[in-house]
Amino acid sequence: MTDSPASAPVLVLIDKATAGGPPLAEGETGWHVVDAHDPVIDVADLGVTRGDGVFEGLGVADGAIQALEPHLRRLARSAAMLDLPELDLDVVREACLASARLHAPAPFLLQKLVVTRGVEGGDGTPTAWVRTDAMPDHSHERRDGIAVVALDRGYRHDVAQTSPWLLQGAKTLSYAVNKSVLREAARRGADDVIFVSSDGYALEGPSASLIARFGDRFVTPSTDQGILEGTTQAAVFETLEALGHETAYELLPMESVRAADALWLASSGRQISPISSLDGVPVAFDRDFSQDLADAMEARRD
Ligand SMILES: Cc1ncc(COP(=O)(O)O)c(C=O)c1O
Repeated sequence: MTDSPASAPVLVLIDKATAGGPPLAEGETGWHVVDAHDPVIDVADLGVTRGDGVFEGLGVADGAIQALEPHLRRLARSAAMLDLPELDLDVVREACLASARLHAPAPFLLQKLVVTRGVEGGDGTPTAWVRTDAMPDHSHERRDGIAVVALDRGYRHDVAQTSPWLLQGAKTLSYAVNKSVLREAARRGADDVIFVSSDGYALEGPSASLIARFGDRFVTPSTDQGILEGTTQAAVFETLEALGHETAYELLPMESVRAADALWLASSGRQISPISSLDGVPVAFDRDFSQDLADAMEARRD
């Protein structure tokens, strides 16, 4: 397969993703670039056969990786939750920077950074790579809003404390459920999903954080409920605080979410998308405020 140079994805394999072991020799980087279409994954890799591994999706705006350090911290946290070997974040960081740098310039790119448990029956060395590619266009979401449905995740909000082995709150490669709920949303005529705990608390989307507005107060579900700490949500909160708004991390019963003044899903890929309906009921959405917020976030990055 051939790509035009402007759109060709850049794939960097990370040879030395884990800490410990012999130090890098003079001139060694711990990563190398390969053709993005080369067959580089062993079919016995546990990331492929079991979804046993962790990942991050990073936005790249005008060549600069957004929230790189929070993404690296979250990757390390996820890896620790899966008992993967400790990662060498210096090597991983340099691999991400190189992958972004080597891509043809574009306003927005998306990086997938993946660390698997390695090949079944192998020596336990994780397989790791970072791939930079075009960012899917989400501009229509900001303009038109998104229809979401609330779906039961089947776990209580305190699952991370009661059953840590379920890995809720780790960003694992096992995203089949996160994809399945999107198909259920489509069957219900919606675009996306808010996961709800079995005891009635709003959690997050399958690939995004939830933000609710109550007057001048902006609330996101507290991250001790088996959900991810969103890097985009954190950037949104920093921007809102700079604009003089109050922000909070709280338990958010679904009834409160249904009574909110406005709702958004936030993620590295889409940035911030206003919700226009929840379970078929229209949600007020202020297109200008959403756009102003997105602009203010961009201005803070410059
Ligand atoms: C389950 C889940 N929650 C939240 C997020 C949002 O995280 P971020 O803003 O760091 O992309 C993601 C991102 O993919 C996700 O998969």
